[in-house]
Amino acid sequence: MVKNKVRKAVFPAAGLGTRFLPASKSIPKEMITVVDKPIIQYIVEEAVESGVEQVILVTARGKSALEDHFDKVYELEDLLDRRGKKDLLEASRKLWNMIEVVSVRQHEPLGLGHAFYCAKQVVGDEPFLGMLPDDMVDSPGYPCAKQLIDVYHKYDCSVVALMKTPPELIDKYGMVKFEQVEGNVVKMFDCVEKPRPADAPSDLGIVARYLFTPEIFQALEETKPGVGGEIQITDAIANLARKGRMYGCIFSGERFDAGDKFGYLQATVHYALKHPELGARFSDWLKQYLKKI
Ligand code: G1P
Repeated sequence: MVKNKVRKAVFPAAGLGTRFLPASKSIPKEMITVVDKPIIQYIVEEAVESGVEQVILVTARGKSALEDHFDKVYELEDLLDRRGKKDLLEASRKLWNMIEVVSVRQHEPLGLGHAFYCAKQVVGDEPFLGMLPDDMVDSPGYPCAKQLIDVYHKYDCSVVALMKTPPELIDKYGMVKFEQVEGNVVKMFDCVEKPRPADAPSDLGIVARYLFTPEIFQALEETKPGVGGEIQITDAIANLARKGRMYGCIFSGERFDAGDKFGYLQATVHYALKHPELGARFSDWLKQYLKKI
């Protein structure tokens, strides 16, 4: 067994999804479909491909569709079995029998840092992944979460996924101060949540994937409300960075902010073109369609 195997992933999914109204009024934004699967399923699959065995959903009122999605649907599976629909049966079963799903509640929207803290008891004293369930990262053959796990195993510290950020988007991300260690790995000294571009310590921003050692919980206990009056995970990360306990990995792969309408459209086209049954047909159609505009 790998020392400090990363077995758990926390998915903060209690947010209201205001960027996706009106679609997210009664459907959790994480359940909105990209091609033929809800967004969160792609991200849970990334976790499973990275070795995760337990998924911890941090949810809130109105989010029970998330728990239902990863549960066995006995009546449906029985029906598919009797009708000999093997492919659909496999698709329905794909995840629930590979992972254990646990959910905890975030009773008040006190911030992303607070959401992670809600999972403290379930995580216990082991390293875990933090995966934002509206950010899709496609890194075929080497999932982004696995890239972070490998950096963790090498440096024995928490790690965040990083991406070069254009100036006009800097005020939407946690931006980091760092020194390059090797290739795509950096050691972080500090980070700041959603700075004005002029105040950003660099153009590297934190993107939706985190690997935390249990030290993060102590750092969160020391974190006061920050930007927007919320407990920001970026402030707890800054605390660890200032203690020399934080690394960053400039991940390889394509990332889509599927919690945003434009990013969602990009993700839909990307995954539709890759779809084993629909891809070729969709590609032909898209080429013809583009000639018309
Ligand atoms: C969150 C984090 C931010 C990070 C971003 C992208 O912001 O607070 O540091 O850069 O996700 O993953 P949000 O998009 O929830 O406002």
